Amino acid sequence: MRILIWGLGYVGTVSAACLARLGHEVIGIEPNLTKVEALNAGRCMIKEPGLENLISQAVTTGRLRATCDGVSLIPSAEVSLICVGTPAGADGSPVLDYVRNVAIEIGRGLRETASYHVVVLRSTVFPGTSRNILIPLLEEHSRRKAGNDFGFVANPEFMREANAINDFHTPPYTIIGELDARSGQLIESLYRQIDAPLYRISLEEAEALKLSNNAFHAVKIGFANEIGRLCDRLGVDSHALMQLVCADTKLNISSAYLKPGFAFGGSCLPKDLRSITFNARRLGLELPILDSALRSNTLQIEAARLKVHELGARRIAVLGLSFKPSTDDLRESPVISLIRDLWQDGVDVLVHDPDVQPEKMLGSNREYLERHLPQINQILCPNIADALKGCDAVVVAQKRPEFMVALQTLNGHAAVLDLVRLSEDPSLLGLSKYRGMSW
Ligand SMILES: NC(=O)c1ccc[n+]([C@@H]2O[C@H](COP(=O)([O-])OP(=O)(O)OC[C@H]3O[C@@H](n4cnc5c(N)ncnc54)[C@H](O)[C@@H]3O)[C@@H](O)[C@H]2O)c1
Repeated sequence: MRILIWGLGYVGTVSAACLARLGHEVIGIEPNLTKVEALNAGRCMIKEPGLENLISQAVTTGRLRATCDGVSLIPSAEVSLICVGTPAGADGSPVLDYVRNVAIEIGRGLRETASYHVVVLRSTVFPGTSRNILIPLLEEHSRRKAGNDFGFVANPEFMREANAINDFHTPPYTIIGELDARSGQLIESLYRQIDAPLYRISLEEAEALKLSNNAFHAVKIGFANEIGRLCDRLGVDSHALMQLVCADTKLNISSAYLKPGFAFGGSCLPKDLRSITFNARRLGLELPILDSALRSNTLQIEAARLKVHELGARRIAVLGLSFKPSTDDLRESPVISLIRDLWQDGVDVLVHDPDVQPEKMLGSNREYLERHLPQINQILCPNIADALKGCDAVVVAQKRPEFMVALQTLNGHAAVLDLVRLSEDPSLLGLSKYRGMSW
């Protein structure tokens, strides 16, 4: 394929050299003449192990060159990779000038040709940037229609500097966020030789994935460092500790607890988080990531409360009271907080939980219930049908097959707010007035 790479920084130079190595004809487009001249002389302007070698080989074989003007090359190329910078301004706002300028240039080039060309965004942007800013610019300047006359794909880059060539050839996965199937198909063929699982998803999912991955890395590093600071004060070997944290691949390093849904609760997580942050403060330590986990959890309950109000419901049925099914441990159940908040807002609440029988509860569990939900005997329905009768909305707070069955009896009379994603494919539930917590 003939490929234009817009921007010869880290991502552009590595992508250019690696795609040329895979046998493509690659032309780098770059306004900085020094970078263009260096590449054409087979030299590399960035420090990256193995890259200069790749560049000089590709230039010698004629598969790689660079120029300052790409507009006139568009008609003879099949693909444009946008690899320009998307830095953040002083206030954190994204500086989109470079990607916008490139979109305008590519658009001008597209105007001169009737042949099919796919524009691929490698740069990292906030979700919506492609559809709301770049595609309109391309369409305006090309006077052609995206998804029809030309293609568009968001194809984020997962390379790490200093390991970039390896990462290019063996990434964790190849992500193709496609505007339409034809665009996705062509870019899938571009990565045929790359040994990695390939996922074809929407534009916005691809844009969000790159940011989410980087945010996850940042949170992981911050978490490990906060545990490290705490261990330092306690005289505990933080490396030995974190090795064991990572050795648990069932609950720790796994997809467990990584599904967006409702807030956490129960007798351990909130209490033990408080224990760490309280004792850290006593030791003169600030652990802001751990500190903010509880605040974030409270905001999740608040978000559910707002969703109930958005439904305009005056009478609701809550299905599930304890923090997870098959337990009657109600300590720090976020559902109790939600019910209390809604009750205070004047919403009538009935609740059903097959595992909760207040008369059989003992000790701290019973005390917790009586203190936080004194009206429990008035609102608890042992029979699910009684809870659902006459309600405007149902809030599903536990994942149970019997709740799925009960929802089918609503026949569209009540809205459903599903906090737990009852089904992986909510459309299979067949509910007309259905809302999820974050999907
Ligand atoms: N650096 C990384 O490790 C990395 C990894 C993954 C993703 N990303 C993302 O990839 C994008 C590029 O990052 P980078 O570090 O390679 O950027 P960079 O700043 O190193 O390089 C960008 C290049 O684009 C050039 N450029 C500016 N305007 C241009 C135009 N109109 N036409 C052609 N070229 C133009 C600049 O002169 C510069 O050489 C960013 O969105 C970044 O967030 C970077």
